[in-house]
Amino acid sequence: MIRLRKLARAASLLTTPLAPEDILSLFNPVFSARQLRGVVTRVVPETADSATIFFHPGRGWQAHRAGQWARIGVELDGVRHWRSYSLSAPAGEDPAITVTDMGAVSGTLVRTTKPGDVLFLAPPQGDFVLPEHPRPLLMLTAGSGITPVMSMIRTLVPHRPDADVVLIHTARTAADAIFLEELAELADQFPNFKVTHWFSGEHGRLDFGAADALDRLCPDWRSRAAYACGPGTFLDDAEALWEAEAAADPDAPAANLTIERFNTSLAGGEGQAGGLVTFEASDREVEADGDTPLLDVGEDAGVLMPSGCRMGICHSCLIPLRAGQIRDLRTGEVHGEPGQLIQTCVSAAAGPVNLDL
Ligand SMILES: Cc1cc2nc3c(=O)[nH]c(=O)nc-3n(C[C@H](O)[C@H](O)[C@H](O)COP(=O)(O)OP(=O)(O)OC[C@H]3O[C@@H](n4cnc5c(N)ncnc54)[C@H](O)[C@@H]3O)c2cc1C
Ligand code: FES
Repeated sequence: MIRLRKLARAASLLTTPLAPEDILSLFNPVFSARQLRGVVTRVVPETADSATIFFHPGRGWQAHRAGQWARIGVELDGVRHWRSYSLSAPAGEDPAITVTDMGAVSGTLVRTTKPGDVLFLAPPQGDFVLPEHPRPLLMLTAGSGITPVMSMIRTLVPHRPDADVVLIHTARTAADAIFLEELAELADQFPNFKVTHWFSGEHGRLDFGAADALDRLCPDWRSRAAYACGPGTFLDDAEALWEAEAAADPDAPAANLTIERFNTSLAGGEGQAGGLVTFEASDREVEADGDTPLLDVGEDAGVLMPSGCRMGICHSCLIPLRAGQIRDLRTGEVHGEPGQLIQTCVSAAAGPVNLDL
């Protein structure tokens, strides 16, 4: 550390007007006093359209808890885009993300990342984590929703062979199932860990709307602490089932279901009028419709927009409203006071809007 400080002092003498950390980052790509970074150490293809990217984070990173996620920044055409990714590595090890190619940022991560590349990072966060005292667990996952649960399984199963864990994972085909082999090996090795893979391409969609499917695959599901992650409809069905069970027998001990969503429904602005959006500091004006998030409006107009989860949970996109009214796309509610901090990822213009950006 002392050597680093001496190097920084020497750099500051030698490098004016560049900041010393800019020069230090030439020697050590994860060094930055301003922005947390990580250097990619390994990239492992998982399926035809997904890959796991292992990285070594720099100073400022906090060790993740199994199930947490982090914001990852990637530069595309000189513009830094932020997306959230669950950390699939077990707690206590260097982090990794497992990304499925479904758009601009994920496609770039899956197709072009190589060892030595630098990722921009924000510290891990999220409450979808292993319980302190694991009781029998049921994990329900679909598609890329396996990633946070894989971190939990890798953290818990090899270190607590008595831990009673049932995983039901759905994918379209075996070739689409991320971590298929590793899960089978863990299930072979640890008898208290049971895995069912459900391939919807062969057997049709697994219907969680009714209890029958779960009764067949995991008869004691009602007594397990359940964790679910996957597409919105899959999670909506699971939530509805748990609610229906609770309503049907209010005296039974509450079965608990914890959910992690990768996206959210933003239908609250459908058919509504938008308005002229003025990004005052960036000196840009753009007509926006009533159901496009201001985050997308700004990015499309070339404004450097802060962002993270893009679904209203992380508050990374907060910016001050200068004037006008906005619509919350989750609820349809219209509101707005000058100076109010607004979440651009879940807000659309409801008339002319001025933003302090
Ligand atoms: C807490 C959290 C954890 C996440 N963890 C992971 C993870 O471990 N692995 C992973 O691959 N992704 C994960 N995501 C999703 C990820 O953040 C991006 O949304 C995803 O990679 C798409 O970004 P993109 O820029 O490639 O696509 P964009 O260009 O932003 O979008 C492309 C298209 O895909 C749609 N789309 C975006 N996200 C999803 C989605 N999740 N499901 C279905 N359609 C979608 C968009 O509506 C759009 O039509 C997570 C998201 C959150 C909020
Ligand atoms: S980007 Fe996370 S709340 Fe808006």
